[in-house]
Amino acid sequence: MKPFIAFFLALPMLAQVRFVPSKKLWVLDTDRTSYVVGINEENSLQNVYWGKKLVRDDDLAPAHTAPEHASFDSRESMTNEEYPGWGGLRYNEPCVKVTLADGTRDLVLTYVSHDIRGDTLEIHTKDIRYALTVDLLYRVYAHSGIVEKRSVIRNRTGQPVVVESAQSGVWYVPAGEGYRLSYLNGRWAGETQLRREPVEPGKKVLESRRGNTSHFLNPWFALDYQGAADEEHGRVWFGAIGWSGNWKLVVEETPAQQVRVTGGLNDFDFGYLLKPGESLETPAFYGGFTDRGFGESSRIMHAFEREEILPDRARPHPRPVLYNSWEATTFDVNEAGQKQLADKAAKIGVELFVMDDGWFGQRNDDHAGLGDWTVNPQKFPNGLKGLIDYVNGLGMKFGLWVEPEMVNPNSDLYRAHPDWAMHFNDRPRSEARNQLILNMARDDVRDHIFTVLDKLVSENHIEFLKWDMNRHFGEPGWPEVAVAEQKQIWVKYVDNVYNIIDRLRAKHPGLEIESCSGGGGRVDLGILKRVDEVWTSDNTEAFDRLRIQEGFTQAYAPKVMMAWVTDVPNLNGRSTSLKYRFLVAMQGSLGIGSNLNHWMDADFALASRMVAIDKEIRATVQQGNLYRLFSPREGEFTANQYVAQDGKQTVLFAFLHSQQYLRRAPIVYLRGLDEHAVYRLKTIDDKLVGKLETASGAYLMNHGIELRLGGDFDGTLLILERVP
Ligand code: DGJ
Repeated sequence: MKPFIAFFLALPMLAQVRFVPSKKLWVLDTDRTSYVVGINEENSLQNVYWGKKLVRDDDLAPAHTAPEHASFDSRESMTNEEYPGWGGLRYNEPCVKVTLADGTRDLVLTYVSHDIRGDTLEIHTKDIRYALTVDLLYRVYAHSGIVEKRSVIRNRTGQPVVVESAQSGVWYVPAGEGYRLSYLNGRWAGETQLRREPVEPGKKVLESRRGNTSHFLNPWFALDYQGAADEEHGRVWFGAIGWSGNWKLVVEETPAQQVRVTGGLNDFDFGYLLKPGESLETPAFYGGFTDRGFGESSRIMHAFEREEILPDRARPHPRPVLYNSWEATTFDVNEAGQKQLADKAAKIGVELFVMDDGWFGQRNDDHAGLGDWTVNPQKFPNGLKGLIDYVNGLGMKFGLWVEPEMVNPNSDLYRAHPDWAMHFNDRPRSEARNQLILNMARDDVRDHIFTVLDKLVSENHIEFLKWDMNRHFGEPGWPEVAVAEQKQIWVKYVDNVYNIIDRLRAKHPGLEIESCSGGGGRVDLGILKRVDEVWTSDNTEAFDRLRIQEGFTQAYAPKVMMAWVTDVPNLNGRSTSLKYRFLVAMQGSLGIGSNLNHWMDADFALASRMVAIDKEIRATVQQGNLYRLFSPREGEFTANQYVAQDGKQTVLFAFLHSQQYLRRAPIVYLRGLDEHAVYRLKTIDDKLVGKLETASGAYLMNHGIELRLGGDFDGTLLILERVP
């Protein structure tokens, strides 16, 4: 090709966020995707494209509404409205629904203006008659490949407006039948189970009505076409809502075979009053696309969380090895007993010692004490200082369990402020685990909780809080405010929880936080902006954990996935070896929750070795790229591989679930290596078949390796270092 021809064919470098005036289109480019929105001939916003990156604006056609084919035919099904208000002939899930002061329940939003600032776009829209405006806020995370959508609904009328649905946005995939939905469901002690099912005409609603994110469903989805995607191949559109309260995802196939996913605040028992001048901002709804399967969609999410969401995003560092007292001592904590555990934890290399429930008020079981966040003097005659100094003296940081949103009726706090518990006047107050939930939507309750936690952290050298929440909303009344404002409780509660965490972290920059809600009940991108890790599940049984962790890593980074080694038999009665339990837990952020007083010398020796290995590989596990090679849902074998960002180290975890006589484990083909590089293999046992000391990336990925796993619940780990 002659040089001057090449010159004419070259495409110009385009801004990540740009407006193409001739076509009235906005193009939002990440390094790998494009998202295109246009203004149609009715002056309303329409989604034009979401998928792999496009390179030429000339290829794009302006937005157009669909024509009417029949009176029953809803044009909206063929017109991918970017942020539909409920009004006119609209029957699909709307993004916003309002009742205006004069009774009008019709909202038609049209384009007013827009602003582009660097990687953000704001599109301003307004109802065709009323001064009810909606700003659509977009942000492009170019490197991660994620687009964020939010909206701000503002009442500029002179009268109150009730917002009955406030969604963050809607994502459209290319039209057609045959999509498959992946999502995460579960239960207490069985969170984040991956499920896949066909998208059918109508709606599939994933939601929480419980006041927090919930164990039952998680606000993440992925869609692939005709079931064609697997871990490494196929187009996958995916997204997640960043909200720790009532959320809702509606996956909908319209009569025109258009699949769309609406998401934001749950509209159940909603009705958010906006006085003149007030506004409501919806949570962030993040979306991404890949044509390289579910594995890549997870890796995109993991990198996005590490680089853009987590509190340590500016300076990422691996999570410390943690010890937690809960399964060892439950409520039976005291200074001597905790020191005894701390001695043993320090010996095996633990870096952060966390005392769980039982240290405060009259907390001897789960009937009393929540709300009274002062140390129990019988259990800790020297205050917390005696224990904390001791733990610090052993070279470990000290962390403490709290459950700030809760109150036991048997507590000084409740006796002083019974009105602070969520309730309706003269109605029952339903208890769960003998506790009530504080109305955190109240600013006085918020400020009290902040003051208590701030005092605790200021007066003691506490470097980590495990923030628990062990029940959901019940009787969500707020009798102290006007009836019309009471339903705001769903949103203001979460805003105030976020506010406390944000203020605490701002005032105590060294403080780290784990989000827990009876296990993995509060795991979402909203809380992950504020906490360093999450408690994955109260189910610490290692084999069950394989599935929980598989689901968890679809959406969330291994780094934030707290995983403890605990004693056996556990919960379901299953017993596995200590080594197996370590290997399962080392696939996330390692913790130990065993009763160390019951361990033998051999257990300490093995644990010290495994903790040392964890420290050698944790940067790769926590900051690297995860390849799920074999799923625990699909056979007797599970394997997960992690590749360091710089490619210098890769680690492989493999597990056999149950042995069948003379049945071999499958060959493991590694991924993500450099074909031409040579890797030195380090084993921790004799499970690798053959004497393979070094191997090329090509050999490891194409020829693969064989492992000799035997017996039920066997596991191994291989560490591969790239030879310079
Ligand atoms: C529930 C948590 O998930 C457990 O780890 C433990 O902290 C208990 N609460 C304490 O009550």
